[in-house]
Amino acid sequence: MQSTQEPADIAVIGAGIVGSALAYYLSNNNKTKKIILVDRSLTPLNGSTGHAPGFVGQYNDSAILTRLARDTVQEYTTIPGGFDTIGGIELATSQTGAERLQRRYDSARAAGLPAELISPEEAARMAPALIKKEDVTSALYFASDGAASATCITRFYQDEARARGVECIEADITGIHKDGNGRVDGVNTGTAGFIPAKTVILATGIWAPELLPNIDTPIPIVPVAHPYMYGPYHDQKKVPSPWIRWPDHHVYARDHGPFYGLGSYNHAPVAQEPKDTAIGEWISEFDNTLKDALGFIPPETGLTPRETFNGIFSMTPDNLPLVGEVPGLEGVYLAAAVWVTHAAGTARFLCDVLEGKEVDGEIKRGLDPGRFAGRDGKTLRKVALGGYNEIYRVGGAEL
Ligand SMILES: Cc1cc2nc3c(=O)[nH]c(=O)nc-3n(C[C@H](O)[C@H](O)[C@H](O)COP(=O)(O)OP(=O)(O)OC[C@H]3O[C@@H](n4cnc5c(N)ncnc54)[C@H](O)[C@@H]3O)c2cc1C
Ligand SMILES: *[C@@H]1O[C@H](CO)[C@@H](O)[C@H](O)[C@H]1NC(C)=O
Ligand SMILES: *[C@@H]1O[C@H](CO)[C@@H](O)[C@H](O)[C@H]1NC(C)=O
Repeated sequence: MQSTQEPADIAVIGAGIVGSALAYYLSNNNKTKKIILVDRSLTPLNGSTGHAPGFVGQYNDSAILTRLARDTVQEYTTIPGGFDTIGGIELATSQTGAERLQRRYDSARAAGLPAELISPEEAARMAPALIKKEDVTSALYFASDGAASATCITRFYQDEARARGVECIEADITGIHKDGNGRVDGVNTGTAGFIPAKTVILATGIWAPELLPNIDTPIPIVPVAHPYMYGPYHDQKKVPSPWIRWPDHHVYARDHGPFYGLGSYNHAPVAQEPKDTAIGEWISEFDNTLKDALGFIPPETGLTPRETFNGIFSMTPDNLPLVGEVPGLEGVYLAAAVWVTHAAGTARFLCDVLEGKEVDGEIKRGLDPGRFAGRDGKTLRKVALGGYNEIYRVGGAEL
């Protein structure tokens, strides 16, 4: 279909937390450019963003991720209702686990993040309903970590972007369109015809591989299933508990205010073909995964599943997102496999790249979507999927 509309300078596809942050930062600096933000569902948010409990732990073995997370928290704390600095506690339940927390403490301090080794009693005082003191050998407290309200942050970015002239369009993108020279000139949609654009950014989360069919370089983004549960409602505590994580056991808990939430990575990884939302069908083995996880919660708390769901998010072979220009697709950029924890920092980074600013070379290479060139796609997918059980394994070593 031929269109007479003025082409967008930049079309951001996907209005989850990543695409919305991009629209916001791009429009901040480019008041004269035409920027559009396109999603097949602006309301509700059908991607991972709409379902993330929002744990933000800034310290990571990867210096790049630590840097992006710190940049991100700095941004989120300026958004009304966006970030609650409730802190996070990691618990060890064995000698090996305690040694690992010690190493993690040392590295976090060396990276300049507030971290404190506290006694099991102190930890239990901060989260009495979530910690069985007698199980704990060691506890590590990260005071500046917290909970991001991913939907609130996303709405904020969208509203601000709109106020700066960004057009938000509800449409299903069916493909990227190239001109005769092989450069992108727009996107095709299911219902809104052809949308011309000079630059296209794919911020389509777990669906990112779908719009990138014919390139030689593998783009190993693997959507995976993850069980999470909400507990029964209770009277809200005056001060919310910090996040609690049991890295040795791949389990974490959140105080949502009026109820507790619990998630676990302690199951065989399951790759998922996402349909139209980031919620997959419930997998029956997940009943046992959550039952085991509930074993870490004091029985007096009475935590039982009121609601369970299988939330889908992306894994990559090296745990790093894919952010930058797509090899072999001039004018097409990717910002995918980005966690809520890193979204604002990542969006700001890509914004700098697009504006031709000087960026940190190490970050650029680390996130480069072309970094897996020449490698076997099937093997890469396997590695990415295998990483699922490492998500909470701190320090990398086997138990
Ligand atoms: C259960 C669960 C727990 C999680 N826990 C945490 C956590 O504690 N901490 C953390 O940091 N992260 C967590 N995550 C991960 C986090 O949610 C995601 O990494 C993040 O939300 C990804 O944001 P996004 O904007 O890239 O993707 P999404 O939010 O998925 O947005 C992508 C958007 O693209 C749109 N789209 C896709 N294809 C098309 C198309 N062809 N045409 C038009 N629109 C399209 C979709 O509709 C969607 O709105 C969790 C995820 C889940 C599911
Ligand atoms: C978004 O999710 C809702 C609820 O699951 C669903 O009914 C709707 O079809 C989805 N929208 C799109 C565009 O996929
Ligand atoms: C580092 O970040 C990645 C991506 O968010 C995550 O999968 C991994 O578990 C983190 N590592 C630690 C030790 O927190």
